[in-house]
Amino acid sequence: MNPVRSRFTKKLNKEVESFTSSIDVDKRLYPYDIAGSQSHVRMLAKCGIVSPKEAEQIISGLEGIKTDIESGSFKFNDELEDIHIHIEQALIERIGETGRKIHTARSRNDQVALDTRLYLREEITNLIKLLHTLQERILKKAEANLEVIMPGYTHLQHAEPVLFSHHLMAYFWMLARDVERLKDCSKRVNIMPLGACALAGSSLPIDRQYVAQLLEFPQVSENSIDTVSDRDYIVEFVNAACLIMTHISRLSEELILWSTQEFGFIELDEEFTTGSSIMPQKKNPDVCELVRGKTGRIYGHLFHLLTMMKALPLSYNRDMQEDKYPLFDTVETVKSTLSIFADLISSMEIKKERMEESLTGDFSTATELANYLVRKGIPFRKAHKIVGKICLVGKPLEELTILELQQFSSVFEADVCPILAPQESIKQKTSDGGTGLAQVRKQIETAKCL
Ligand code: ARG
Repeated sequence: MNPVRSRFTKKLNKEVESFTSSIDVDKRLYPYDIAGSQSHVRMLAKCGIVSPKEAEQIISGLEGIKTDIESGSFKFNDELEDIHIHIEQALIERIGETGRKIHTARSRNDQVALDTRLYLREEITNLIKLLHTLQERILKKAEANLEVIMPGYTHLQHAEPVLFSHHLMAYFWMLARDVERLKDCSKRVNIMPLGACALAGSSLPIDRQYVAQLLEFPQVSENSIDTVSDRDYIVEFVNAACLIMTHISRLSEELILWSTQEFGFIELDEEFTTGSSIMPQKKNPDVCELVRGKTGRIYGHLFHLLTMMKALPLSYNRDMQEDKYPLFDTVETVKSTLSIFADLISSMEIKKERMEESLTGDFSTATELANYLVRKGIPFRKAHKIVGKICLVGKPLEELTILELQQFSSVFEADVCPILAPQESIKQKTSDGGTGLAQVRKQIETAKCL
């Protein structure tokens, strides 16, 4: 019998029972629910609300329940709604009357907030580790291919030659911001909600600071109504996760393009590619495509959560039970994406010759040619016009002779010829954060110090 139905004479309608139950989804919160209950009862004993002996009984009873859940012998059923009732009921069955004291000065409203905060705090730490690993792999790949040159793109059109290492390191910095965002979000996750009870706090002499200390929370929440109504920390986390997915999805898109026959810039390892059921020659970048696809699912979770919250009156409403699936699915999806991507990046082959070859005759040193004229005292807009005209001739810039160039401007001298080669154009980029070799080396050193 569900212990929360004290005032009812009828049993819950069977269909309603499975409709309202969340056990299939929230059972994974059991370790946090148990740790939370153990700290709660320690506090109850410290405050003289239960005896030390009762607290010990409850703590070891909960330990036994944990073992049962982990061994698979624990029975879950819809009648007991959620993980909180399951554990409380199992405790009563296991240790008898004393078990009925665990829910003193507590509600499922503050309990569920505690569980999800403990869960998310741990998962944010795991995600930060995975982000760091992927950053390290990106950095290694960049270092191993430091001087490889490739076309840099805007509008997916050849723009200017860049170092492949510079392009790849762009993702390193996106992920660095992702780490920062998660760390910042974790400040707001790491607030102890227990003691808010249903919504108003408790008239029993509880010590919230002590619970916070036991569970290693740096602070307790300030307002009990806000505490049981707040899901900002979940929305914020999923938002941060959406950006992580956006970054990996953009990288996926590039890897998909680069591994086409048309680009041929990279080859993904066989361990990370799939075959076709009909075309024997195929080697498809399905992992990257799935990351792109799953990104949409995570965006969906963000909108699910925002929409779920936007019109809820204070304080707790059952709508909020629906926060779990998007939260858990986001954590799992981002974790597997990051973990797979670390190895996918390490194992991919860089086709240096093909990247360099694709710069032939692509006019991508035109900006350098204009800068050359600027150095000779010509205003940039005028230089832009001169070089535009030169491009119109249609002959690859690197093949133009000094005589041909001088037909467009008398300031061209023999020293112009080397800068028309992509390698040389990259060398000219001496500004901080640019694609020059020394600058990229410096960037990598800075990245290593993070
Ligand atoms: N399973 C519920 C949830 O996840 C726990 C809180 C239930 N509280 C209540 N008053 N019905 O939100």
